[in-house]
Amino acid sequence: MRSIRKRWTICTISLLLIFYKTKEIARTEEHQETQLIGDGELCLSRSLVNSSDKIIRKAGSSIFQHSVEGWKINSSLVLEIRKNILRFLDAERDVSVVKSSFKPGDVIHYVLDRRRTLNISQDLHSLLPEVSPMKNRRFKTCAVVGNSGILLDSECGKEIDSHNFVIRCNLAPVVEFAADVGTKSDFITMNPSVVQRAFGGFRNESDREKFVHRLSMLNDSVLWIPAFMVKGGEKHVEWVNALILKNKLKVRTAYPSLRLIHAVRGYWLTNKVPIKRPSTGLLMYTLATRFCDEIHLYGFWPFPKDLNGKAVKYHYYDDLKYRYFSNASPHRMPLEFKTLNVLHNRGALKLTTGKCVKQ
Ligand SMILES: *[C@@H]1O[C@H](CO)[C@@H](O)[C@H](O)[C@H]1NC(C)=O
Ligand SMILES: *[C@@H]1O[C@H](CO)[C@@H](O)[C@H](O)[C@H]1NC(C)=O
Ligand SMILES: *[C@@H]1O[C@H](CO)[C@@H](O)[C@H](O)[C@H]1NC(C)=O
Ligand SMILES: *[C@@H]1O[C@H](CO)[C@@H](O)[C@H](O)[C@H]1NC(C)=O
Ligand SMILES: *[C@@H]1O[C@H](CO)[C@@H](O)[C@H](O)[C@H]1NC(C)=O
Repeated sequence: MRSIRKRWTICTISLLLIFYKTKEIARTEEHQETQLIGDGELCLSRSLVNSSDKIIRKAGSSIFQHSVEGWKINSSLVLEIRKNILRFLDAERDVSVVKSSFKPGDVIHYVLDRRRTLNISQDLHSLLPEVSPMKNRRFKTCAVVGNSGILLDSECGKEIDSHNFVIRCNLAPVVEFAADVGTKSDFITMNPSVVQRAFGGFRNESDREKFVHRLSMLNDSVLWIPAFMVKGGEKHVEWVNALILKNKLKVRTAYPSLRLIHAVRGYWLTNKVPIKRPSTGLLMYTLATRFCDEIHLYGFWPFPKDLNGKAVKYHYYDDLKYRYFSNASPHRMPLEFKTLNVLHNRGALKLTTGKCVKQ
């Protein structure tokens, strides 16, 4: 017990030092990074987007060169990564707060906006799981599916669906794109802003019906709603909660713990990946290391063009354009993607960015 505490103290101190060092950068990027999570740009980090042309021009495609053919898992590395991540967070616990964490009427501070508060409503409380929806769940293979347009024409649908557990992001539509993205969804994230963006802000009955239909297609999958990140989406979360309760949907709601983002960031920081805020995609990979022996990533491609120079849509399912930020730091790098690429080459995960080969 004492040695654990000691380790944590050392961890905390080194984290504090790192936080201190990156404080300057963090301050200028606070605003946009808050948007990143709050506004929900799915499984891509916007921060990776602008620098991409520059990076590709500078380093050529070589830094993204990775072959899926002949890729082999390194199981001892996978175990090592899991063990290291467990020092910072435990996906079983941090994937969701549970009912006993709060009472209705409790006031909490938003994770990325400490000055603003949220009242835990009766509806929200009633949808908190009794126990973690990931408790004791273990899988041989998992797919984490990002939403990049790189999936279009990939014919990866069957391959994705063949995994034991499939994680998707931001309630991305699947049925119309089944050949390329598959349909199996065991765990799906939903940023509150998707209500506005994809379901007309529930302005009329048909918007609500469309949403209820989409959730009903999930059966009893986990619906993961980051409700405590930033103020702004609370009304949407309440509407969603009310619809789930009213329609008695079977979907299993989960709401990430208040410490998850900081813990994930801490892990990557101590591994010399100075991300300001992890994207949903990186969050999902980090969580998945807890319960998946083999993790395969699809739909991660934060660049406007593929390696052949062909334009790549930001999302495979809509016409959202890349958003650039004028206050971007000059040192931004497509760090997350580069990191995943390195992990692919070392056999820790498999990153598919091309067509899926027919078996
Ligand atoms: C697998 O990873 C471990 C730990 O990083 C490393 O020591 C070992 O050399 C790797 N094995 C292969 C075959 O790459
Ligand atoms: C939370 O609820 C209390 C009383 O129940 C109320 O006074 C307060 O304004 C509420 N705060 C927010 C942020 O809604
Ligand atoms: C509901 O609103 C959407 C836009 O949010 C619109 O496309 C649709 O036509 C509306 N339906 C009805 C029945 O008013
Ligand atoms: C939910 O169940 C229906 C009917 O069995 C099935 O067609 C659908 O694919 C399931 N949805 C998911 C996400 O597995
Ligand atoms: C991308 O970032 C650079 C600075 O890093 C900036 O000069 C440029 O205008 C940005 N591009 C767009 C399209 O915003």
